[in-house]
Amino acid sequence: MALPLMRDDAVDILTRQHAQIRRGFYKAALPGPTRRRAFEQLMRLLAVHEAAEEAHVHPVARRALQAGRALTARRREEEKQAKKLLAALRRTGPQGKGYLRQLNAARKAVLEHAAREEREEFAALRRVVGARRLRMLGAEIKLTQAYAPTRPHPLVNNEAANKLAAPLLGPVDRLRDLARHATHR
Ligand SMILES: [Fe+2]
Ligand SMILES: [Fe+2]
Repeated sequence: MALPLMRDDAVDILTRQHAQIRRGFYKAALPGPTRRRAFEQLMRLLAVHEAAEEAHVHPVARRALQAGRALTARRREEEKQAKKLLAALRRTGPQGKGYLRQLNAARKAVLEHAAREEREEFAALRRVVGARRLRMLGAEIKLTQAYAPTRPHPLVNNEAANKLAAPLLGPVDRLRDLARHATHR
């Protein structure tokens, strides 16, 4: 019997999160009192999503896929650029001037990146990596996402940095999230 943690494989989890991210951008654009909360949820989802990809999924793809090194280098570069846009967006904030324009630019970068991952990386992982390994990778993703940083950190961009940063930045971000939540309640 599969452990509950290993019920979904890595591709299922990440593809589902891509759909959540797409909806999150839509919700974060809506005006009104729900915007701030939707924005914070989106930032958090994006941060933990990319952290898991960079720590666990791209390294497996780099080793397992033909031309995996070049392919994952492109994905990491896209992630780095997207994080810069997201960090600037966070500085502007959901009530700031230019928010919708910046949100739209980040949305475009993030969703194009996600589509490339699904098309070039996830599909190939499904073909090359065994079902059991993909389920184990799914469990690693869930564990990482439970304590990963929740804000965009453009300099934390590869396997080692993500694995090192998670126990350091994760708790700091989560305390800052609590403080922010308390102020905006
Ligand atoms: Fe990604
Ligand atoms: Fe992704």
